[in-house]
Amino acid sequence: MIDIHTHILPGIDDGARNENISIKMLHAELKAGVQQIFLTPHFNCETTSIDAFIENRQSAFERLSDAVGSEPMPELRLGAEVRYSPALLNLPLEEIVLNNNYLLLELPFHHYPAHIKQVIMDLDASGITPILAHVERYRFFRDDPELLYSLIQSGAMGQVNVSSLEDKKDKGFAKACLNNSLAHFVASDTHNMTDRAPCMDMVPHILSESMIELLEKYSDALWEDETPYYFDAHEIKKTIFGYK
Ligand SMILES: [Fe+2]
Repeated sequence: MIDIHTHILPGIDDGARNENISIKMLHAELKAGVQQIFLTPHFNCETTSIDAFIENRQSAFERLSDAVGSEPMPELRLGAEVRYSPALLNLPLEEIVLNNNYLLLELPFHHYPAHIKQVIMDLDASGITPILAHVERYRFFRDDPELLYSLIQSGAMGQVNVSSLEDKKDKGFAKACLNNSLAHFVASDTHNMTDRAPCMDMVPHILSESMIELLEKYSDALWEDETPYYFDAHEIKKTIFGYK
């Protein structure tokens, strides 16, 4: 398994506070069968310069690598969870993408950003596939799933958090996103070893074998930095009984 969304790097954001916690998180990932991990600390270009972010990320990675030493660990690659901003398109995105072709994008939680569709289309045209982080957590998508469908049709992919697949409030929409190819990755979005611990071990208990096989095709293409595995998205229907 590959975990594409984690806050394991020590002392850089609201994730692992220090190297000891990072190492415990890595052990938990390994135990869950995760062999490859993207380290994706938060990056917001409206509050931090990209140069400062890259410098902090590199120094956190060096501290972690020193602490790991020669212990067997999952393969680690640097990335970022990038806060949406219309200014994104002016940034040297090659510094913050996952490999060369994918960008993990976090949207504002309280409002649907006005120009997001155009930004997604511009990223897609420049060869970068935006992956919308934890699509199930945005109220505007749950209230109006057509908004999500429209962004996926414009070139985005979607990710859901594993914990949401067991959460009473979020699981209906999260599963509908996976079943309709509006989400293509499940990830831990782990922040610590307490309330947001690594939880990829839950995946085989929650999802069917055929769904896991499909998700592996998307994540293998990402890890190998290939063009996204083909998918045909469908609109989610919202009914009084939930989503389908
Ligand atoms: Fe995150």
